[in-house]
Amino acid sequence: MKAVFIERHGGPEELQYGDLPDPVAKAGEVLVDVHAASVNGADWKVRAGQSYPQTNFPYVLGRDFSGVVSATGAGVGDLAVGDEVFGVCDVGQEGAYAEKIAIKAAIVAHKPTSISHADAAAVALAGLTALVAVEDTLRLKPGETILIQGGAGGVASIAIQLAKHIGARVITTASAPNHDYARALGADAVLDYNAQDFSKVLSGLDAVFDTVGGDGIQRSFAVLKPGGRAAFIASGAHAPKPNRVDVEALRPQVGRDRPHLERLAGLVVRGAVRVPEITRFALADAAAAHRVSQSRHLRGKLVLLVR
Ligand SMILES: NC(=O)c1ccc[n+]([C@@H]2O[C@H](COP(=O)([O-])OP(=O)(O)OC[C@H]3O[C@@H](n4cnc5c(N)ncnc54)[C@H](OP(=O)(O)O)[C@@H]3O)[C@@H](O)[C@H]2O)c1
Repeated sequence: MKAVFIERHGGPEELQYGDLPDPVAKAGEVLVDVHAASVNGADWKVRAGQSYPQTNFPYVLGRDFSGVVSATGAGVGDLAVGDEVFGVCDVGQEGAYAEKIAIKAAIVAHKPTSISHADAAAVALAGLTALVAVEDTLRLKPGETILIQGGAGGVASIAIQLAKHIGARVITTASAPNHDYARALGADAVLDYNAQDFSKVLSGLDAVFDTVGGDGIQRSFAVLKPGGRAAFIASGAHAPKPNRVDVEALRPQVGRDRPHLERLAGLVVRGAVRVPEITRFALADAAAAHRVSQSRHLRGKLVLLVR
């Protein structure tokens, strides 16, 4: 099969496109013919050896995908050859930048028929992360006000819509060219982080969801009301320590399971969440997609078209 992989950790040009042996579905797994895979913020960090350093090469990147089941392993009774599915690789597993992937059947879900494979790949990990952060971790409630940092990014594109669907008021941050996009997603207010410091104009918020990290972390704590909570996904494996004692810092634990993907699919089918803006690349052009991802100023999602 054709795949995009790294041979070793090193420089920025290390993505390879070539042939690798087909994977095989083991017991409890399905083999999926991948139609589309998405590029996530973590991918270039893994490629560069900055995150989840690997030792076994060639190493195929890619955490989420959409495709068609082409074989089932022993004991798989709830999915069949020909089913359209989407999913997110198990924690510690990757391999979606390829024509085929073997994955536990229990962590993939049926792709909604109303959306394309590119759409389904785009919402898989970003949507799962938004759901776990906003619903399970922050437990956002109707009438609350949340600041979502990085409103034009993949996870935030979905988190803004989810927060509005819950009935919260949403403030987000984005560069000026992305303000119309963030408003179209439902944001009630958009702050230009290049022109103003959000911590100087916001206070008393119920929640913050930070998808950016860096020097905004402590300022995120500053805008919370006493008892407010903040969730972080771009600041490492643990929540950063707040510089005040009356707020809560949370690190969403984004597990993999079918029920969360089905909840996400339901939200998309009902129109509560629409698919973020997508920029498409051929699988062979994954290196170009990585350059965009690494720039950290993309809008929505980057998707690799595999077949
Ligand atoms: N399971 C997990 O824990 C998990 C899952 C998914 C992602 N993540 C992490 O979450 C982070 C976000 O991922 P993503 O895929 O949603 O991001 P992304 O799609 O890579 O987007 C980055 C976005 O951040 C915005 N941005 C950059 N600097 C900003 C700033 N100072 N203030 C406000 N916005 C800023 C950019 O918008 P502008 O062009 O407008 O600046 C861009 O739209 C990454 O670090 C990723 O590794 C974690």
